[in-house]
Amino acid sequence: MDWNQFFFVVFPYISLALFVAVTIYRLVYRPFTQSSLSSQLLERKRLYWGSIPFHHGITWILLFHLLALLFPKAILVMNATPLRLYLLELSGFALGLWALVGVVVLIWRRLTTPYIKAVTSTMDIIVLLLTLVSVITGVLTASLYRFGSVWFTGVFTPYLWSVLLFQPRPELVEPLPWLIQLHLINNFIILAVFPFSRLVHILALPLDYLIRPWQLVIGMRDRKNS
Ligand code: HEM
Repeated sequence: MDWNQFFFVVFPYISLALFVAVTIYRLVYRPFTQSSLSSQLLERKRLYWGSIPFHHGITWILLFHLLALLFPKAILVMNATPLRLYLLELSGFALGLWALVGVVVLIWRRLTTPYIKAVTSTMDIIVLLLTLVSVITGVLTASLYRFGSVWFTGVFTPYLWSVLLFQPRPELVEPLPWLIQLHLINNFIILAVFPFSRLVHILALPLDYLIRPWQLVIGMRDRKNS
């Protein structure tokens, strides 16, 4: 087995298996542990300037990634005119830089605030460094190999589907420049460490609020006596 086989065939399945199995184990046998272990009570100013830019930037970027995976044709149609292509790419780039500012502040805060340093685990540092690598390689990919929102749909969409459907096609990503390959491999590492880290707090997102029935509040107060 060569390195390409390992990184683009074997490793994605190792990380997916860890992600699915350990996450399910944690949900079933360790309920109520899907926490971000917030340190807001210990320090809030730097947390604000780190967490808000990071989450606002990364959430939209990951949503764009997901749209390109699920609806590649729609992304291509949207990119069919130069204006819309530039707008999408520029928005992605600005959001990427915004996320970069956030993650740098978060790392700086972890390393320099005494209270926060005391409650920081090795896994916290690993997760922040992996995130930093993802954001830097993503932003560099977007600026050095334009236009990613177009070629993503021709390279990564079929590759990721080939992995998900258990018919991996490493030949799609083997010829890519090392920077883009690093972006991909680093994200598979993030997937593998996800259930072992505070990243599991993403699962606590109350998405059921979007689809649950209306809550009816019926007033029973006797107005005359209140
Ligand atoms: C296997 C999954 C992923 C693939 C195949 C992938 C691929 C790409 C590609 C091709 C780009 C360039 C987009 C463009 O030029 O418009 C990009 C940008 C980016 N990616 Fe990923 N990515 C993945 C997962 C992630 C994850 C999990 C993160 C964050 C933790 C991330 C963070 C970023 C960032 C910050 C950018 C820069 C956005 C921009 O400047 O336009 N990516 N990614």
